[in-house]
Amino acid sequence: MNRPYTIIVSEVTIDGKLTLKRGVSSKEIMKFMDEEATRYLHQLRAKVDGIMVGAETIRTDNPFLTVRYAEGNNPTRIVPTSKADIPLDSNILEKHAPTIIVTSENAPEEKVKALEEKVEVIKCGANEVDLIKMMDVLYEKGIKKLMVEGGSTLNWNLLRLGLVDEIRLIHMPFIVGGEDTPTLVGGEGFQSLDEILKAKLRAHFLRGSHLITEWEIKYED
Ligand SMILES: NC(=O)c1ccc[n+]([C@@H]2O[C@H](COP(=O)([O-])OP(=O)(O)OC[C@H]3O[C@@H](n4cnc5c(N)ncnc54)[C@H](OP(=O)(O)O)[C@@H]3O)[C@@H](O)[C@H]2O)c1
Repeated sequence: MNRPYTIIVSEVTIDGKLTLKRGVSSKEIMKFMDEEATRYLHQLRAKVDGIMVGAETIRTDNPFLTVRYAEGNNPTRIVPTSKADIPLDSNILEKHAPTIIVTSENAPEEKVKALEEKVEVIKCGANEVDLIKMMDVLYEKGIKKLMVEGGSTLNWNLLRLGLVDEIRLIHMPFIVGGEDTPTLVGGEGFQSLDEILKAKLRAHFLRGSHLITEWEIKYED
């Protein structure tokens, strides 16, 4: 199977959280991100063919997912949503950049049709989006390098399926706490030490007041 080279890029607090509370937009904590760190994020966006977020991030944050604080072209925006549940006034449905909605055969036809009037919609999977198949289809469509900007459910599913090559973290110098607050990786979690994913620190440096760490995922050994 072919798949894009895939990099998870995320802002995380000292305690590994992605946002202030479950259901709250991460734009709140991102207000505290320096210009230099913002530029780092947008420079990465300008270097990839595709940028993906989970549907819950679209519903909660309503991001644009475009390149604004760096030179370069907008990547194709890609959102998996098993029931084609994307609000029709979402910013990613506007014409700033190409968008692909990835849904399942089970999605309500009227929702699929409404989205198709605005952007490209592809179906991968019977009841939910088959992420492995999706990656193959995206590769064939020319998405050779993909950046994933969360959230924690999508991150978990991509990581557990062995679909991620790197993680790059922009560390936010504060703590938010909260047991139910989404962390970098959610889902069921690995159940034993044999299963946990190992990573190798490839680089660490500062951008403004933010530590940046870049990790390579090691699926074997
Ligand atoms: N700090 C950061 O860098 C950052 C970045 C992004 C998001 N966030 C925050 O993270 C939170 C959202 O995270 P989240 O974990 O709730 O949701 P998420 O990972 O953004 O989205 C999960 C949703 O994606 C859709 N999906 C479809 N197929 C899937 C599959 N095979 N595997 C996984 N997901 C699939 C499902 O929605 P359907 O029901 O439509 O199928 C699922 O509920 C928000 O609070 C947001 O602010 C933070």
